[in-house]
Amino acid sequence: MKPNIFPTAEATARGLIEHILRLVSFHQRPTFTIALSGGSTPALMFDLWASDYADQTPWERLRFYWVDERCVPPTDAESNYGMTHRHLLSRVPLAEEQVRRIWGENTPEEEAERYAALVRSELHAVEGMPIFDLVLLGAGDDGHTSSIFPDREDLLTTDSLYAVAEHPVTRQQRIALTGAPIIHAQNVIFLMTGAAKAPIYNDFLQGHTNGPAAYIAHHALYEVEVFADEAVIG
Ligand code: 6PG
Repeated sequence: MKPNIFPTAEATARGLIEHILRLVSFHQRPTFTIALSGGSTPALMFDLWASDYADQTPWERLRFYWVDERCVPPTDAESNYGMTHRHLLSRVPLAEEQVRRIWGENTPEEEAERYAALVRSELHAVEGMPIFDLVLLGAGDDGHTSSIFPDREDLLTTDSLYAVAEHPVTRQQRIALTGAPIIHAQNVIFLMTGAAKAPIYNDFLQGHTNGPAAYIAHHALYEVEVFADEAVIG
């Protein structure tokens, strides 16, 4: 695990965008596939990407997927796609086929299957495993990542590419990328800012694998990068 620590949340977001642009520039294939997480943390990064880095970004090379989505319509305030559309996608030049939304409004079981089939059909695979060029993850205060919550660690090792999950408190259903495709991604990056993430970050540092986020951090095929601000390291 490689920590990249910055003084503020904004500096962290800028550092991450610049790192992603470097990954894209060195990428051999024409298309660079990115699976995005939702929640609140990425919004600042998306805003800065759309405003200060849009001219430096080869948008035509990018194709966006989602790590997870809440089972709500895209217009719902809870929608990860909706948040990303507001802060990024609506502000940059992307063709429709470059944005692969998870249909939160679909029947969850059907959507997990549909979206997994879509990802399998579009990504290059290694030994049958679709490989994202980049999976951008957050980490919940309870140690979850994607929508793999502590009470569903079976999703870390399931054969399914995407699964139906449920938030343990709100019972909100989610479509979640599972452990294996995350672990096999070419690049896995955690974006964590704010003091609330400090316990999770310390778990990472101490090599604990309790909790899905820490498990991913220590089982990914390639070295996981963590982009965090100083509030996270205390
Ligand atoms: C989601 C996210 C989830 C998120 C963490 C952190 O759908 O909520 O994909 O995995 O990354 O919950 O969320 P915050 O950024 O809001 O702390």
